[in-house]
Amino acid sequence: MSRSAHPAGPRHADVLPEGHYTAPPTDLNVLDEKVWSRTVARDADGALTVGGIEVARLAEEFGTPAYFLDEADFRARCRAWADAFGADADVYYAGKAFLSRAVVRWLHEEGLNLDVCSGGELTTALDAGMPAERLAFHGNNKTTDEIERAVEAGVGRIVLDSFQEIVRVAHVAQRLGKRQRVQIRVTVGVEAHTHEFIATAHEDQKFGIALAGGLAAEAVRRALTLDGLELTGIHSHIGSQIFDMAGFEVSARRVVQLLAQVRDEHGVELSEIDLGGGLGIAYTSADDPREPHEIAKALGDIVTRECEAAGLATPRISVEPGRAIVGPTAFTLYEVGTIKPLEGLRTYVSVDGGMSDNIRTALYDAEYSVSLVSRSSDAEPMLVRVVGKHCESGDIVVKDAFLPADLAPGDLIAVPATGAYCRSMASNYNHALRPPVVAVREGRARVIVRRETEEDLLRLDVG
Ligand code: LLP
Repeated sequence: MSRSAHPAGPRHADVLPEGHYTAPPTDLNVLDEKVWSRTVARDADGALTVGGIEVARLAEEFGTPAYFLDEADFRARCRAWADAFGADADVYYAGKAFLSRAVVRWLHEEGLNLDVCSGGELTTALDAGMPAERLAFHGNNKTTDEIERAVEAGVGRIVLDSFQEIVRVAHVAQRLGKRQRVQIRVTVGVEAHTHEFIATAHEDQKFGIALAGGLAAEAVRRALTLDGLELTGIHSHIGSQIFDMAGFEVSARRVVQLLAQVRDEHGVELSEIDLGGGLGIAYTSADDPREPHEIAKALGDIVTRECEAAGLATPRISVEPGRAIVGPTAFTLYEVGTIKPLEGLRTYVSVDGGMSDNIRTALYDAEYSVSLVSRSSDAEPMLVRVVGKHCESGDIVVKDAFLPADLAPGDLIAVPATGAYCRSMASNYNHALRPPVVAVREGRARVIVRRETEEDLLRLDVG
């Protein structure tokens, strides 16, 4: 159906560029399982359930806006990644996507490792009992204090991101009488097909040390001479929300070339290669992510082939998926407030959250889908833009979507696939209170990160 032929709601925007939104699905009540977590379903009355609990009950108990995290799905995804990569490889969950003590415990129980990138993430991981040797510590500007805490705790690896850091970590380790296992993060010069702000392997950006111009080889040279460091491998992360394996292929090839160069120059075969995270998920029905076993096979094949060609033993591979594990496992539940039909354009649906609980739409032009979840509806679809309650016109949660034309204030709507980089990037803009994260599993729901309160705001404001 062409959008201008669409029957209900205000007439549609002929001013919008083509491809900005797709035609409405034939039945808005049908859930696309690609974008919803595994235990989400509609009950006999058409209301959404997660882990067997109806969303209206969840809203009553925990309020809105709130993130609901499907624990069974999270654990199943951890296991799928661990099984796919097997005993000869390591999976590090990227904590920046979403981290809490409950999540750390689930990771531990499911046998995953954890990538942390700040003192705060390190503390959360250790406090929840993750063994330090299963942590990788990242960051382009780790403070000396953070480095000391990481080395003292005995983190399994520190990923070195600059020449200065090579020296800093070596000094700290020596001072503490330790030899720290490290990898060097290189930038391989790949243009990942993703938003500019989340692409990380091209050369004109802040992360890593470039392979180009022999810089990475020089970094290896220096790291090998320092007593405080045990250089175990090379790290590359090319960006995020990537579907095309071609970028990983180029990245792996270039990293293996560096390993071969290191062997030729120093007679040392580094035993690890980390290809980072960045695997894409389905935010809308248009996205087709790969399964972990396909990714594991593709990456394993690439590295093995390149190493064979270079006459190297295949190193131990590790990966760092964040979004691909937690992203699909949560949705944000909102209550509909004001509904404003704009004749000839679209209907603006305001919810009780916004850019403070999901900055991704404003920041990256990210696409999301949305569904009416407190009931089903046979009303015609209407073109909507779901917006928040912040004082800013860019405060958009879902740019283009369809909801039933009988949508009313008080209805509950949910945005799926908000598990990654939504709560972790949430803010207090306009003194909004950051929503809770509620874990749901087998008929039980429990808060794992509580809702912020106005007292929390005032406590930080020391007057
Ligand atoms: N490893 C490293 C070294 C990283 O820098 C990142 C993400 C990951 C792993 C995990 O990437 P993932 O698998 O989650 O895509 N805020 C942005 C994403 C920034 C990602 C930063 N680094 C977003 O909301 O899309």
